[in-house]
Amino acid sequence: MDVKEITLEELDTEKFIAEKVREISSVVDDGVAINALSGGVDSAVVTMLAHRALGDRVKTYFVDSGLMREKEPEDIVSVFKDLGVPVELINAQETFFGALKGQTDPEDKRQAITRSFYRDVFAQLVRETGAKHLLQGTNYTDIEETVAGIKRQHNILEQLGINPEEAYGYRVIEPLIQLRKSSIRKLGKALGLPEETYSRPPFPGPALAARVIGEVTPERARLVRSATTIVEEELSQSGAFQYLAILHEDKVTGIRDGRRDYGFQIEVRCWESTDAKIGSPTRLPYEVLDRLANRITTEVPGVVSVTYNITRKPPSTIEAV
Ligand code: XMP
Repeated sequence: MDVKEITLEELDTEKFIAEKVREISSVVDDGVAINALSGGVDSAVVTMLAHRALGDRVKTYFVDSGLMREKEPEDIVSVFKDLGVPVELINAQETFFGALKGQTDPEDKRQAITRSFYRDVFAQLVRETGAKHLLQGTNYTDIEETVAGIKRQHNILEQLGINPEEAYGYRVIEPLIQLRKSSIRKLGKALGLPEETYSRPPFPGPALAARVIGEVTPERARLVRSATTIVEEELSQSGAFQYLAILHEDKVTGIRDGRRDYGFQIEVRCWESTDAKIGSPTRLPYEVLDRLANRITTEVPGVVSVTYNITRKPPSTIEAV
């Protein structure tokens, strides 16, 4: 891998920020750039760097793929409005669900998401704005997993032999490519992001699609979204690195009101980790697990089974897809 990691111990925050601001200004020169904000820590940090470097010559977009969490698009736009960064919401739900239709293989689903973002949505935004560059928050773990062939991370292009300029008509700027999550959080703090943004649990670029096993339809996205809301409400005080709900492909037999109910299965995962590279399941109190099971089976229509993942990463991974 020809990208060299900068560890948390090596990171000089102020120097790094100044360097990246200079680099972004020099690469974009007197042109304009577009910036992809997903609401996660990485893209939030890139947004602040880009804004410092380019001011109103960078246009920041939040792509609503239909795979985001409850109220996420509105919340993100409002957080950045308070920081003086205008964010435009792009409704691309049809594009994403169209690309995911009939796809069940995990890597095919990831590829469909990559194409929807880069070939469909960003390429059109580039044409509309006249931008030649796209800024995004790829981090060191993303590249590492893709290069190792574990998962094709949605934002990896060059390491997979894709030249974005040839394939999509723009160049990609990735200021955080040498850093892992803990360093990116430190930068977020230094750049003035609110604590709830820089300390937010990570959320994957493919969003809830990484948490739906099998075909991702609007209905199945809605199901996992409702379960995610409950998991996040119940586990936000757990101090864990990341917690999530997964919708299984198989249904199982259950009972509701004394009758057979062939329903959905939700798996809850809650991780202890510092960099997402390795992880172990949080030893949640049984009462918490019990409350999760009760709430998910009563509040999410059609769910009859809730399980808790007790496997470490490796061999498990954090997301299911
Ligand atoms: P896995 O599931 O590979 O996840 O153990 C490691 C970390 O990366 C996040 N993740 C992604 N982030 N694009 C991203 O930006 C992706 O395609 C992607 N897939 C997984 C995941 O949430 C975890 O924090």
